[in-house]
Amino acid sequence: MSARVEEKHRAPIRWMHWINFPLLAMMMWSGLLIYWANPVYSLRLFGREIFYFFPAGFYSFLGIPYRLAEGMQLHFFFMWLFAANGIAYAAYLILSGEYRSLLPTVGSFKRAFRVALYELHISKQKPPQGKYNDAQRIVYTLVILMGAGSILTGIAIYKPLQASVFTSLLGGYEWARWEHFWLMIGFAAFFAVHVVQVALAGWRNFQSMITGVEIITTEGGQE
Ligand code: HEM
Repeated sequence: MSARVEEKHRAPIRWMHWINFPLLAMMMWSGLLIYWANPVYSLRLFGREIFYFFPAGFYSFLGIPYRLAEGMQLHFFFMWLFAANGIAYAAYLILSGEYRSLLPTVGSFKRAFRVALYELHISKQKPPQGKYNDAQRIVYTLVILMGAGSILTGIAIYKPLQASVFTSLLGGYEWARWEHFWLMIGFAAFFAVHVVQVALAGWRNFQSMITGVEIITTEGGQE
């Protein structure tokens, strides 16, 4: 058995990835403090409500009620940092050329399907991995677009008068608020899947997002 060290994530990517984590957590937390004051959304199926965002127990368990002002203060402070980090990350992806290993390419959707079959143990044929496999490419690109979407819908509901043209392009204040809310739910769903996938990928993969390098062991010349 032999081992080699492979460069995986450059320092700016690692820094911005980890800075994003507490910032997004803070945006979601402060968003909930605000949302509590006017909780209007629910999940409906054929006109029937199947889940109400959020049950009273959820708020009381987390100590959320009556913290609207605090929520607004935190949300309107951290949003600048979240946006700045996101813009810096997108700029770096473009300028460094790193976007090439992240964006989906021709045939990515087809290959992502193969990744899903492989991960569900339905197919034994391992799809090409590269730095990111095609399912990762699609999901990571989607989550970056969701970040941009959160900022844009956020602007639309933060300054609906000053940005009135923009707000109406998003369907008006109510729609923009709805879109902003569902993006937050999307982040929560991404986060849950992302953490499970990272755990399944193992310690070395996780470590590579901290150190930048991954240790690859090969057995008899085969990886
Ligand atoms: C405890 C929290 C988190 C952990 C442990 C974690 C871990 C990781 C790891 C290990 C990778 C590299 C995957 C690989 O090389 O196969 C990665 C990539 C990535 N993660 Fe996370 N992550 C976390 C939170 C987040 C959050 C909150 C977001 C955004 C909402 C996010 C977005 C991304 C993106 C976009 C990439 C690709 C980065 C690039 O190469 O440019 N992660 N994450």
